[in-house]
Amino acid sequence: MPDDSRFTPNPETTVHPELVEGYGGSTGSPRTVAYLDDEDATLAFAARLAGGLQRGLVVYLHGDLSAGKTTLVRGVLRALGFDGRVKSPTYTLLETYQAGGFELRHFDLYRLNDEEEWEVAGFRDEFNGENIFFIEWPDRAGSMLPPADLDIHLAPAESGRTLAVTAYSTQGKSCLNALSL
Ligand SMILES: Nc1ncnc2c1ncn2[C@@H]1O[C@H](COP(=O)(O)OP(=O)(O)O)[C@@H](O)[C@H]1O
Ligand SMILES: [Mg+2]
Repeated sequence: MPDDSRFTPNPETTVHPELVEGYGGSTGSPRTVAYLDDEDATLAFAARLAGGLQRGLVVYLHGDLSAGKTTLVRGVLRALGFDGRVKSPTYTLLETYQAGGFELRHFDLYRLNDEEEWEVAGFRDEFNGENIFFIEWPDRAGSMLPPADLDIHLAPAESGRTLAVTAYSTQGKSCLNALSL
């Protein structure tokens, strides 16, 4: 697992790659895994992720309820300088932000019913190659979503969370590389 070593522990984010289990499968795509001790560690990781964002990036966020997906998006927005309220898009499905020179779109598709709802809401038009997407429950949208540049899995472990980030595109890889700076 050579990619594990790319996530170097630093004083801001307490990571313990050796504690992470269950992410050993190899897909051939670059992957970084880490253990996030507490909410602050999730926010610190998110801040590092924010530093590598590029226009048009599509990030899928996987993990059960309370895995920390929305916390991660809040951390990204804070790091980009957004100081307003970051609400979970639980019922609205989409929250829209301008931050750090980016147009950021935060979806939570848990309550998405069907393709018609997607079309009627005009979500398709959001995918203009410029906006940056963080998408919770991407599986609910089936093939309506563009593929992920970055795939993030969060799961509870001990009192914290395990994190696995996989890059599926050149854009995603450069974002992943920026994490280990
Ligand atoms: N690394 C972590 N360790 C422990 N708790 C965390 C961690 N990251 C986030 N949390 C907590 O998990 C809870 C649920 O987070 P949330 O982001 O709303 O989850 P989700 O969007 O996946 O449902 C919050 O109370 C948050 O403080
Ligand atoms: Mg959420």
